[in-house]
Amino acid sequence: MKLINIETNMAEFDGLKNQTEFMTYFRNENMMNPQKYFIETWGCQMNEHDSENLSGMFDLMGFIRTDLKENADVVLYNTCAVREKAEMKVFGNLGHLKNLKGRKPDLKIIVSGCMPEEDVTIEKFKKEYKFIDLVIGTHSYQKFPQLLKEAYLNDRTKYDINNKEDIIIEHLPANRDYNVKAFVNIMHGCNNFCTYCIVPYTRGRERSRKPEDIINEINELVNNGVKEVTLLGQNVNSYGRTEKFDVDFADLLELVNNIEGLERIRFMTSHPKDMTFKLIDYVNKLDKVCEFMHIPVQAGSNNLLRRMNRNYTVESYMEKIEYAKKNVKGLTLSTDIIVGFPGETDEDVDSLIDLFNYVKYDNVFTFIYSKRKGTPANDYEDQIDNHIKKERFNKILEVSNNIAKENSLQYMGKTVEVLVEGPSKNTEGVLTGKTRGFKTVNFEGEKDNIGKLVNVEITVCNSFSLFGKIIK
Ligand code: SAH
Ligand code: SF4
Ligand code: F3S
Repeated sequence: MKLINIETNMAEFDGLKNQTEFMTYFRNENMMNPQKYFIETWGCQMNEHDSENLSGMFDLMGFIRTDLKENADVVLYNTCAVREKAEMKVFGNLGHLKNLKGRKPDLKIIVSGCMPEEDVTIEKFKKEYKFIDLVIGTHSYQKFPQLLKEAYLNDRTKYDINNKEDIIIEHLPANRDYNVKAFVNIMHGCNNFCTYCIVPYTRGRERSRKPEDIINEINELVNNGVKEVTLLGQNVNSYGRTEKFDVDFADLLELVNNIEGLERIRFMTSHPKDMTFKLIDYVNKLDKVCEFMHIPVQAGSNNLLRRMNRNYTVESYMEKIEYAKKNVKGLTLSTDIIVGFPGETDEDVDSLIDLFNYVKYDNVFTFIYSKRKGTPANDYEDQIDNHIKKERFNKILEVSNNIAKENSLQYMGKTVEVLVEGPSKNTEGVLTGKTRGFKTVNFEGEKDNIGKLVNVEITVCNSFSLFGKIIK
């Protein structure tokens, strides 16, 4: 779906103020023989959404999107820095692009996202990746047309990084890939400085969008057929704190809940330390807010939580979980875990498993600790050996998978409400969607069900997905 197409008046986007001249340049250049662009995105939903904005700007400038890198005149990699593995993938892909550029010297290469916000990466780019045309950090997207023009007209790599302006850009165009559900950023950045995490350094300080800007965006999405929104922030529970809004996150949920035509509301991520009982009550009270919460616990012992600078204890976490389980009917939960954090002991892993057995998450995203330069934990001396990390990872995975399977089996024979998102990627004639509790459900059905809420009776329960038949 294109919310904003090429015919839209560019001046409408105050986010692109002063960029009209550069956009007009590309529109003229692309008039007769439009250049093709390819975008690949790594990382979290924030990055996914930034890619939608970058793509929206390419569209406005007359470029045409291609899904084939080999056909592209300009390739953009929107990168993630959260773990080393994510970065290695990008470096590997850049190596391939170097070869492609060897064959196609006019190819333009752009790297955006969180990797350009790290000094070590920039040093590496400057030494070994001189063939990149534009490196653009997360705080500079509103200048994208201008930077792109400079990159096109110069032989040397253009850098726009370390831009410390923690601003919020409203009204950037967006080319969204789907039409049933959409991500909406409600805030940017993070103030928490967990000792393992690079995000506060790559995304800057926490800042929240005004409630009216969020509501206007969601109204526009709903007018374009969107049925479900996910409100995004690194810590949605502290929404509006820096700005001292008189609307807190629970109040914002209520405002969004009042939007007519919207069917479902989700949100992520909830930091446990800022989660309020009021929020839990609102999740229960507001009919469109789904009974699903992603609440990263990261570790199962107070010693590790303290060393991670998470600012809550196992006990205070559990108090909130118990309240939520008691008060939100049909609640499902998921979490993030870091395994192999410096100083982690076998006992820490055992207490994490105890916590799993109590909370019974539907989904656990387990990440092996990865050292990040510039973060405090990078310099902790008691780093864990790789083979121990792997052993613990496998142990945790086995326990969490068994719990997920156990949870899944409870759906057998039950009828669930599914918001139909589209055709399944794997099987012809099969549609896919999600329950309110965020379980994937596949079923045979006609395409005219897409975008609708349907009832499905469950006949097969896999750990992370269900299969069933539609009930008329
Ligand atoms: N703001 C969110 C998470 C953002 S990053 C929150 O606080 O919950 C997503 C996940 O990546 C984190 O929850 C954490 O589990 C993981 N992560 C972050 N830094 C990491 C690192 N250095 N090594 C391994 N996993 C990491
Ligand atoms: Fe990273 Fe912690 Fe902020 Fe989440 S809350 S983005 S883990 S620093
Ligand atoms: Fe990665 Fe940046 Fe998101 S580091 S997880 S893309 S905020």
